[in-house]
Amino acid sequence: KDSVPFYGQHQAGISTAAQDRLMFAALDITATDPKQVALMLGRWSAMAARFCAGEPVTSAPTKPSQPPLDTGETMGLPASNLTITVGFGPSMFDDRFGLTGKMPAALKPLEVLPGSSVIDPAISDGDLCIQACADDPQVVFHAVRNMVRAARGTAVLRWSQLGFGRASATGAGQSTPRNLFGFKDGTNNIHADNATALDDYVWVGNESDQDWMAGGSYLVARKIRMEIESWDADFLSDQERIFGRDKSSGAPLTGKKEFDTIDFGAKGDNGKPIIDVNSHIRLAAPEQNIGTKLLRRGYNYTDGQHPGTGKLDAGLFFICFQKDPRSQFAALQTKLGKSDLLNEYITHVGSGLWACPPGLAKAGDWYGKSLF
Ligand code: HEM
Repeated sequence: KDSVPFYGQHQAGISTAAQDRLMFAALDITATDPKQVALMLGRWSAMAARFCAGEPVTSAPTKPSQPPLDTGETMGLPASNLTITVGFGPSMFDDRFGLTGKMPAALKPLEVLPGSSVIDPAISDGDLCIQACADDPQVVFHAVRNMVRAARGTAVLRWSQLGFGRASATGAGQSTPRNLFGFKDGTNNIHADNATALDDYVWVGNESDQDWMAGGSYLVARKIRMEIESWDADFLSDQERIFGRDKSSGAPLTGKKEFDTIDFGAKGDNGKPIIDVNSHIRLAAPEQNIGTKLLRRGYNYTDGQHPGTGKLDAGLFFICFQKDPRSQFAALQTKLGKSDLLNEYITHVGSGLWACPPGLAKAGDWYGKSLF
């Protein structure tokens, strides 16, 4: 089995098992007629269903006198667990398409949060996003490439990002992968088999001011650059103090095994808390944040090296899903951005927020059907 069901109550690519590869794309709409946008979303829906089943854009043959209907690079490749998740950015709800009344309150653009002073607009935001994940990089590229191609005349690519090595475990059956700092990432994540946690923290329910978002979720993406060279010069004990976990096993510094409960009250011989007061896991833990949780589903990235310095340009393309970014991502980042020990080694350089509508019910249904 190497395909993930496309139709369902929720879009795939959120609570479904994280794959190895990502291509994330943000697009801006150039068309002014909402009907044209709706048509494009309809085309995307049909294509996405086919791609996720391992099929090309269409089964119709290309005439020799036309450009190939499918670009062709996945011929012979399996679906590779491809999932395609589409989202609408806050800018979709300005007055261009008559959607102002349908803007959910939770889609309010993120403010400049602590730790976000160098966010580059050229790799941020966008009217639409496509998150394509699969176990084969060629498959994710093909999906985005053909969707961008199908958008020609209606929307243009604004920015994109490739990612590798899922940096978050999302399923109880999945072993915890590592991020580029070498630490296990996703130990205390919301796991796919925890339906209660998904309902409580991830899927929008009837509490939303916008019915069309019921069953959907809000996606926050943050491109977070890592200062790899400085990190690699830091002592192991300091790296572990920063996260509050053992680098090798992933266990909290107050425990022995990865999934041991963190003991925030435990003190060392010096009388200080073993889990540093400004360590990443203490600041981010629900126990320290009125129970706040979110679903992390990010990927590692590298874009080569910085021109001039030759340093590795790499980091975490952080993606998280939630019911309400204001009380979840933004609340946590406000705290992390102020005091996280990790801040010495990371810089948030890109940012975006999108409303991912619920899943498509069956063939003929399309992204945003209840919106337009
Ligand atoms: C936990 C890494 C950014 C939220 C962790 C853990 C690691 C980690 C290694 C411990 C293992 C685990 O439970 O998953 C990183 C790195 C980051 C980053 C390398 C940036 C490059 C963020 C951001 C947020 C966040 C921006 C949200 C605003 C969390 C949460 C936990 C966590 C909620 C779980 C805490 C708990 O319940 O124990 N992160 N993280 N992280 N992180 Fe991050």
